Amino acid sequence: MAALPQKPILLDSASAKLRRLQRQNAAMKRLVGAVQELSLARTLATVQAIVRREARELTGADGATFVLREGDKCFYADENAIAPLWKGQRFPLSACISGWAMLNGQTAVIEDIYSDSRVPAEPYRPTFVKSLVMVPVRTEKPIAAIGNYWAKRHRATPGEIELLQALANTTAVALENVQLYTELENRVRERTAQLQQANDELQAFSYSVSHDLRSPLQNIAGYSELLAQDHSSRLGEKGRRYLSGITTGTHQMGQLINDLLRLAKVSHAELKFERVDLTALARDVVEHIRFGRDENAPEFRIQDGIEAHGDEGLLRVVVENLLSNARKYSAKKPKASVEFGCISEGTEKVYFVRDAGAGFDMKHASRLFAPFQRLHSQQEFPGHGIGLATVRRIIHRHGGLIWAQAAVGKGAIFFFTLGHEANTSE
Ligand SMILES: Nc1ncnc2c1ncn2[C@@H]1O[C@H](COP(=O)(O)OP(=O)(O)OP(=O)(O)O)[C@@H](O)[C@H]1O
Ligand SMILES: [Mg+2]
Repeated sequence: MAALPQKPILLDSASAKLRRLQRQNAAMKRLVGAVQELSLARTLATVQAIVRREARELTGADGATFVLREGDKCFYADENAIAPLWKGQRFPLSACISGWAMLNGQTAVIEDIYSDSRVPAEPYRPTFVKSLVMVPVRTEKPIAAIGNYWAKRHRATPGEIELLQALANTTAVALENVQLYTELENRVRERTAQLQQANDELQAFSYSVSHDLRSPLQNIAGYSELLAQDHSSRLGEKGRRYLSGITTGTHQMGQLINDLLRLAKVSHAELKFERVDLTALARDVVEHIRFGRDENAPEFRIQDGIEAHGDEGLLRVVVENLLSNARKYSAKKPKASVEFGCISEGTEKVYFVRDAGAGFDMKHASRLFAPFQRLHSQQEFPGHGIGLATVRRIIHRHGGLIWAQAAVGKGAIFFFTLGHEANTSE
């Protein structure tokens, strides 16, 4: 049989080079992907999962481990290998190769683990490992290490070592980010808890002050009444005027106290979530608003089928306030109309109340929802300035938002969402 023609040696080495280049190219692509993923990782678990997968895939090794430093121990946090290694176990830093890499801030490249004094033979006997590479994560004060293992004797190439070191460097940055995020999250949580506590104390204080003010105020009102009833003739004209001033003042203060108490109650009432037919609720509210009012009442247009998930009692307070405002602030316009409806923004429902009344200047919009802030005078439109503050508290307690758009003389539109709906509606 004729001998097969020999492949030219030059061609052989060229195709080997090409294969090597292709392998390197694929590894670089993988590394870039891993770097991108690691840069977005926010938790240790995510970093661990990425390293676990990539450390082995990058070099095509038979196994990889991700080891965390815990004081003077190495913790084998995760692994990805052809057979079990040491996942979940802890060893003294001085008694394992990952400890050596972390203590020295150097990479260990070991072709034969049984002939290297840095590797304790016993823990390796039950495993497949013959050769390994261990890279520290961070050369300055390493915080972790990444290991690669081979079942057949293998001398890691400079390319493989570089890839692992690049992965380790990115992992170092990712772990620092995780630490930063965790610290930030804890700080935000602490601050929120402090704020919540301060807020609760303030509300409890304003509740008890308002409550305690009631009885002295009732005394003043009661004695003023007695004075007016029994001693009016002795007071003279001026005295009676002064007394009437006292009575009006005490009446106003009583109203303010009631408003404050109502606001405090809304903040503390326990929410009972249920499906609420807002269309029916709004139509009922309109009946009450209309009751006994003049001919000039606006036309109310309530969209059919508006449903919500929330506390019915509190949602009634929201709708009542918004519709009463719409009615009050459009009272001076003939044939005004008020609309209540709902639109869907993605998965979220946005409810709205629109009127074509007096409106307001948007530059004062930030004051709308603060207690006792009013954008119109008592002479123009009477009120206490507490309605929208109450509404906002209820909306916030439902996890939603409220905002408004308006123009002077052109009307106003109030939008609100009920955040919990997305999570709780069936
Ligand atoms: N639909 C509206 N059109 C124009 N201005 C409005 C409208 N709703 C609210 N406002 C402005 O916002 C202010 C705050 O409203 P809010 O309902 O809190 O108080 P109020 O209506 O004055 O009094 P009350 O506490 O009796 O409701 C109002 O004083 C008014 O200036
Ligand atoms: Mg109001």
